Amino acid sequence: MKSSLQTLLTLSSLTTLSTAHYNFESLIVNGHITNPYEYVRRTTNGWSPIGDVKSPNLICNEGGLDPDTMGSTKTYPVTPGDTVGFTVNIEIGHPGPLAVYMSRAPDGIPVNAYMGDGEWFKVYALTYSHIDEWDIHWGNFYGGQPIRNFTFELPEELPAGEYLLRAEHIGIHQATTFGQAQFYIGCAHLSVAGGGAGVPGPTVKIPGVYDGYEEGILVNINNPVPDHYTAPGPDVWPSGCEDGTPNLVGTVSDGDCRV
Ligand SMILES: *[C@@H]1O[C@H](CO)[C@@H](O)[C@H](O)[C@H]1NC(C)=O
Repeated sequence: MKSSLQTLLTLSSLTTLSTAHYNFESLIVNGHITNPYEYVRRTTNGWSPIGDVKSPNLICNEGGLDPDTMGSTKTYPVTPGDTVGFTVNIEIGHPGPLAVYMSRAPDGIPVNAYMGDGEWFKVYALTYSHIDEWDIHWGNFYGGQPIRNFTFELPEELPAGEYLLRAEHIGIHQATTFGQAQFYIGCAHLSVAGGGAGVPGPTVKIPGVYDGYEEGILVNINNPVPDHYTAPGPDVWPSGCEDGTPNLVGTVSDGDCRV
């Protein structure tokens, strides 16, 4: 068993750029890694991505709106300023932008019954550290290796309530043709106590946030390497920052921010 797992891991790292798929499976809160699908809605499509940006599967991945899945996913209590994030099975192996969106469940509806049909805002973005003539140096590669987890701080201004916390990584290695960008998605349940007095925005609907023709979604990143890259979707609330390098679980944020 152990050796076949090792073989699998080795094979997966050798074939990363062509075949790797992945899933956001565990919520991280203040360094504590929860069990897979304990606080994250379980998906039904293995580790496959979503391709259709107009599909309801863009909300919480395939299976993420199944009542049984929603109801059996736990809700983690947090406060603004807490560090949250996700682990990925196995690794975010494709180049492209990572983002986290949040949507507050309406009063009276617990997040484990919330379909994500309200307003969403972007609360974190990890794009690239720099671009040179050879490559866009993506934030989801660290020391040349695909990352397996990431964290960020919940804004102090975040209002109280129950929220979906939705991680999204867009694999754009084959995105030169319409519909070929790969959307990897996972939704966790948070209950935010205390709470700030901010008004999150700009807000978007999911689906609806993308039409698939954005310059960050329908894009050739390889040949030639573009001299700039613009991630799709709204600006990050409230900072307006894009992160360039990942904050791995157990490390302190380097505080980098590109506006
Ligand atoms: C977090 O990610 C880093 C980089 O991929 C990895 O080295 C580390 O083992 C991961 N830690 C956990 C607990 O998954």
